[in-house]
Amino acid sequence: YRRLRVALLGAGAVGSQVASLLLRHGDELADRAGARLELVGIAVRDVDAPRDVELPRELYTTDAETLITGADIVIELMGGIEPARSHILLGLGSGADVVTANKALLATHGPEIYEAADRVGASVYYEAAAAGAIPIIRPLRDSLAGDRVVRIMGIVNGTTNYILDRMDTEGADFADVLADAQRLGYAEADPTADVEGYDAAQKAAILASLAFHTTVPLESVHCEGITTITASMIEEARDAGFVIKLLAVCERLDGDGTESISVRVYPALVPRSHPLAAVHGANNAVFVEAEAAGSLMFYGAGAGGVQTASAVLGDVVSAARRHIAGGTGVGESTRANLPIVSIGHVMTRY
Ligand code: NDP
Ligand code: HSE
Repeated sequence: YRRLRVALLGAGAVGSQVASLLLRHGDELADRAGARLELVGIAVRDVDAPRDVELPRELYTTDAETLITGADIVIELMGGIEPARSHILLGLGSGADVVTANKALLATHGPEIYEAADRVGASVYYEAAAAGAIPIIRPLRDSLAGDRVVRIMGIVNGTTNYILDRMDTEGADFADVLADAQRLGYAEADPTADVEGYDAAQKAAILASLAFHTTVPLESVHCEGITTITASMIEEARDAGFVIKLLAVCERLDGDGTESISVRVYPALVPRSHPLAAVHGANNAVFVEAEAAGSLMFYGAGAGGVQTASAVLGDVVSAARRHIAGGTGVGESTRANLPIVSIGHVMTRY
C-alpha cells in the first residue's frame, strides 16, 4: 500500500483514543483505506504530561507546524478556536485533507475553512463535530441531499443529558455529576460550553446549515442552558409525567410564501412516553423529518473519547480514500473476506 502521513493534533479524551486505534488496527485500516495510515506525530502542549492512554513517547511534539506541513492528513482534536483554526488552514494550504471534531470552530469559522479547502481542492471531514459517534453529518450532507429536510429535533449534548438523567433517576447533585462527566471525558475543556447550551447551539448551527443548505450563524441560534434547572423543577416535572431534556430544534418555517428557518436550544419538558425520554446517560438522539423520507431517528453515544474516535477514524478512512483516488471518499471495502456462517432461525432475546 501507498503510505499516507497522518498528523494528530491533541491527545486528550478523543485524540488519545484515535491514536491508540490507529496503531492497534493499522493493518485492517490499511485494507479499508487502500493506504497505510502512518501516525507520524502527535502535537500536544506538554510532552511530559501524565496520560491515561499509553502511546509511544517519541510521537509527542510541541512543534505542531512542522508536523502539519509534512502530513497528508491532519486530524485536529485540540478544540477551541486558536491555534486550531491556524493549524487547519496551514494543513489545507500544505495540501493535506483535514479531519476535525471541533464544533466550536466550525460553527464560528466554518465558511472560512470550507472556502480554504475548496481553493486548494482539499476536503474537511467533521462527522464527530455533532452527536459524537452517531453518523448524522453524512446522512444530512449526502444521503438526504435529494430530499427537503423540514425539521431536526433532538438531544445533541452528552454532558447535559448525563447530568439531567442522573439528577432525575438518582436525585444526584448538579456539581457532583458535572465533575463525573468531566472525569469520564464527556465535557468540553471548559464545561461552561456544555451546561450553558453553547456546545449544543454550535452543533445545531452545523446541522441546520447542512440540512437547509445555508449558513446558519451561531449568533442566530437561540440558546438556553441547564444551569437554572433545580432538583425541585426535575421533581415537579417527574410528578407531572415529564422529564427535562436539553433539546435542539432546527425548523424550516413556511409562511405567506416566504421561507425562513429557526434554530434554538433550550431545556424542555418531554413526556415520559416520548422516545427522547428514554435517552439516558451521555447518549444523544436526533430526529430528522424530511418531505419525502418522512421521519428518521439517529441514536447512540453523544460523547466519550473512544466512541467519538470511531467517527473520527471513519473520516480518516474517507480522507485516505479520497487522497489516493481523488474520489469522493465514499467507497466500499470487501477485503476482510470473512467466512459467512448460516445460523437459521433462532428466537433471540435482545
Ligand atoms: P481534551 O481537552 O481532552 O484534549 C485536548 C488535547 O489538545 C490535549 O492533548 C492538549 O494537550 C491538546 N492541546 C490543546 N491546546 C493545545 C495547543 N495550544 N497546542 C498543542 N496542543 C494543544 O479535548 P477532547 O479530546 O475532549 O476534545 C477534542 C475535540 O473533540 C474538541 O474540539 C471537542 O469539542 C471535540 N469533541 C469531544 C468529544 C468528547 O466526548 N470529549 C466528543 C465530540 C467532539 P495536552 O494534553 O498537552 O494538554
Ligand atoms: N462535550 C460534548 C458533549 C462532547 O457533552 O456532548 C461531544 O460533542
